Amino acid sequence: MVVNDAVRAAEPRAAGKPARVVGGEGHDVRKAVFPAAGLGTRMLPATKAMPKEMLNVVDRPLIQYGVEEAVASGLSQIILVTAAGKSAMEDHFDTPAALVRLLQKKGDTKTLAAMHAIDTMAQVAAVRQREAHGLGHAVLMARPLVGDEPFCVFLPDDIIDNPEDACMAQLLRVYERYRCPVIAVERAPREDVSKYGILAVQQVEPRLYRVEDMVEKPSVAEAPSDLAIMGRYVLTPDVFDALDRTPPGAGGKIQLTDALRLLLETTPIYAYEYVGRRYDCGSKLGYLQATVELALQRPDLAHDFRGALEDALRRA
Ligand code: G1P
Repeated sequence: MVVNDAVRAAEPRAAGKPARVVGGEGHDVRKAVFPAAGLGTRMLPATKAMPKEMLNVVDRPLIQYGVEEAVASGLSQIILVTAAGKSAMEDHFDTPAALVRLLQKKGDTKTLAAMHAIDTMAQVAAVRQREAHGLGHAVLMARPLVGDEPFCVFLPDDIIDNPEDACMAQLLRVYERYRCPVIAVERAPREDVSKYGILAVQQVEPRLYRVEDMVEKPSVAEAPSDLAIMGRYVLTPDVFDALDRTPPGAGGKIQLTDALRLLLETTPIYAYEYVGRRYDCGSKLGYLQATVELALQRPDLAHDFRGALEDALRRA
């Protein structure tokens, strides 16, 4: 189901200058798709009325970490795949004129500049996924806005932290070499393989693999390896035809992993074991780890927060 009539492209914003492009300079990929239509049941009740992608980590919502990684990787067009009740995400990348006027009146140029930095960091557009038919279906909803060009997919639940070399920039360097889809992978503990898409691979060089097969959420016995798909992909537009042909799979949903498996029949696909620390912010534990560890990295917070943590641990 293509929802052209539901496409609400945000007004083109002043071309946002990425603050710092780390390592993704040589590619011609511009677009980043963020499937963000899920209900966030693992984080209830926090997500009862608020999109899980708007949960705060330190001082910014989860979705902003992904968008900052996209910008740091040289991408300039953000496509949010959202659902009813989740428009707070679009609002976050826009600044209401009334707020601008208020801050101007107060002469608060510092806050004004900080707000402006968010809504000019990239051009943001949104498209709706009306039914929860799965990750593959969500990506397919972005087709009218992606068109016939390569694009990246970010699953916003996953923060992948590498301040020196953004995870997507690492994947894009592999894409530049092979011009084929590239999937981010990490080794998962054996008992956790059924949470992920798992790959069968042949190693090409350190950290780089040619994908031979893939299976979404296998049992421990069925898993072909412990190499798990994490929430970053560089994809080519032929994935949309594959998604069109993909029947419902694990959980009765249209799975991106199944579409990539179909694509594998005609296109080589690579997997890259990125360098970075991943936090699964869709789970309570992962969310708390992200909050603590990212706060400890912040020069403005680290010293006092470390003291507060040590104090809390002594008293616990
Ligand atoms: C999705 C993908 C899965 C991947 C995982 C990473 O699953 O379908 O292949 O391993 O993200 O977080 P989900 O967590 O949405 O069920």
